[in-house]
Formats: sequence, C-alpha cells, structure tokens
Amino acid sequence: MRLILLGFGVVGQSFVKLLVSHSADLYNLYGIKPKVVACADNGGIVTCDQGLDLDRLLNVKKKKKSVVQYGSRGSTSEIVDVIENMDAEVVIELTPTNITDGEPGKNHIITAMKSGKNVITVNKGPLALEFPSLIELAEYNRIAFKFSGTVGGGTPILEFAKRCLKGDRIISFEGILNGTTNYILSKMYEGLNFSEALRDASEKGYAEKDPTLDIDGYDAVAKLVIASNFVMNLKSTIKDVRRTGIRDVQSSQIVIERKKGNAIKLIASCNGKDLIVEPKPVSTKDPICVDGILNAITFTCQHSGQQTIIGKGAGGMETASSILRDLIDVRSTIRL
Ligand code: HSE
Repeated sequence: MRLILLGFGVVGQSFVKLLVSHSADLYNLYGIKPKVVACADNGGIVTCDQGLDLDRLLNVKKKKKSVVQYGSRGSTSEIVDVIENMDAEVVIELTPTNITDGEPGKNHIITAMKSGKNVITVNKGPLALEFPSLIELAEYNRIAFKFSGTVGGGTPILEFAKRCLKGDRIISFEGILNGTTNYILSKMYEGLNFSEALRDASEKGYAEKDPTLDIDGYDAVAKLVIASNFVMNLKSTIKDVRRTGIRDVQSSQIVIERKKGNAIKLIASCNGKDLIVEPKPVSTKDPICVDGILNAITFTCQHSGQQTIIGKGAGGMETASSILRDLIDVRSTIRL
C-alpha cells in the first residue's frame, strides 16, 4: 500500500513511528505492507518510488527540522503535482487545521480525490467548512474518505455513533470535544493559573499549532460541526454554531462551582437544531465530567437512552492510532 504523507508534525511523526513498530501486525493481521512514497512538511516534499526509509525520515526531521534534507526533494509548490501524479493508493492529510479557508489541506484533499486516491485526514478545517461537498466528491470519485481522528483523537467517537448506535436514532449529544481546554480547566480546578496550564498543554503537544483555536472554542466548534453532519446528517457549518471560549473563565468561578459539586467544562452540544460551544458548570458526578485531555460525549438515543464514550482526545500517538484504524478500513475497500 503506497502512501503519500502530507504534514509531518507531532501526529505525522507519531504515525510513522506506529508504521515502524506495528509493521509485523499490519502485515500478518491485515495484509498491509505500507510504503511511504512521499512525505511533505512546511519545508517541502521528498519522494521515493521504492518507499522512503522511515527511520531515516524520522531522524532527518528530528535533527534537521525538515524532511527536505532527506535527499531527492521538491519545494512545497510541487506537493499538488506529487498528489496528482505519483503512484499511490492513499493520501494522508495532516497539515495544521485552518478554519478560515481550510488551506492547504482542502486543496490537498480535493486534488487527491480527483486523482482517484483514497484520503485519510485528521485535519478538521476542510471538513468543518465543507463537509457535504467533500463527502459528495469522495462518492463521485468512488474513493474511501476517512476522518475518524478529527473528533476524539484516538477515541472512536464518530465510529461509535455511526456503527454501534446503528438502528437507533440519536436525538442529541453533548460533551467535551477539546482536550487542551479540558486540560487547562482541570489544572485550574487544581489551583494552577491559566497561562501555566496552557504552557503545559502546548509542551505536551495537545494544543493546536495556533492554541487560540483551542482556547476560543474554534476547535470544539469544528468537531461539533463534523459530528453533527456525520452522526445526525445535519447540513451545518461553522457559522451555525454559537461559540464562547474559555478565555474569560475565572479561577474564582471555578472555586464557587467546585463548592457546589460542579466543575466548569467547555461543552459542545447539538439537539438536532441548535449547535452550541460554551463553558458551563457540570456536576462532577456526570459521566462527561472527565479530566485532563480526556474527551467524553453522551449520545441520547430514542430507544437505548444515554450512551457515553470517554477517551483520550488529543496527543500524537493517540491521534496517530486513529489514522492506522482508518488505514485498515481503507485496505478492506481496495484491491491492490
Ligand atoms: N487541539 C486539539 C485538542 C487536538 O486539544 O483537542 C485534537 O484534535
């Protein structure tokens, strides 16, 4: 299976580490022998028809900061040409989330689809901005389009709702969809101040490249839009969400709520009509009241009642595991 990897930050590097450490399992259990034939970061792109040496690729990135030092290379302007013309089955799009115009991820995804290549992404921007048209383009080009890591990181929130709750009707859902803000609010609950907690979250690789996306609620908004489209078939976009971030949450409010048995959490909710992201008090006894980078979401279903899924919502390895999960799914849909 030939892969083009676009974006080589924390998640991209973690994914390559997983490919190396899981190579025997991938082959023995799923018949997958992945070859990364191209890898791009913000310095440019390297390609190798026979497959890049993954250990060397990781080493080059670590020591020289960009994959372009690997060897045969091109500038970022050649990425689209590589997507179009290089022989590969899957494009894995991992460039940073941009919720203003979705670029460069959106163009990468559209180019890959139009070239008949399957797409896996954890990039939330393109989906949050153009969910229905990207799904339509994937169907039109008959390619697999997988994005399970866009919501919940390593925790299969979308899959849970779509596959496990099949046959029931989801009426509403609400929960914590951003690991960084949950980490910050949890640390503030323990007495740390906002800036210390944010610095900690960024150092651990949880926060977005631009952490204001987390703090001001945009990341949770993007995930809410993706989930409401995928799970409840709403045709919502970012503009439909009422958003408040955690910037103005005061330590004093947290202390007051703590005395009442509550914690303040950034909650994303969808009742089938209204889409809201806002900090609000949640009882510490509620199953969605989880701490640290955990995400938790409760789906309320017509017949089976409430179901909650909890798991790690951010982090390099956690999110990389969702890409591997998607890759295994893609493998089952294609003939090599
Ligand atoms: N910055 C995101 C978060 C990463 O903190 O949840 C995972 O999407």
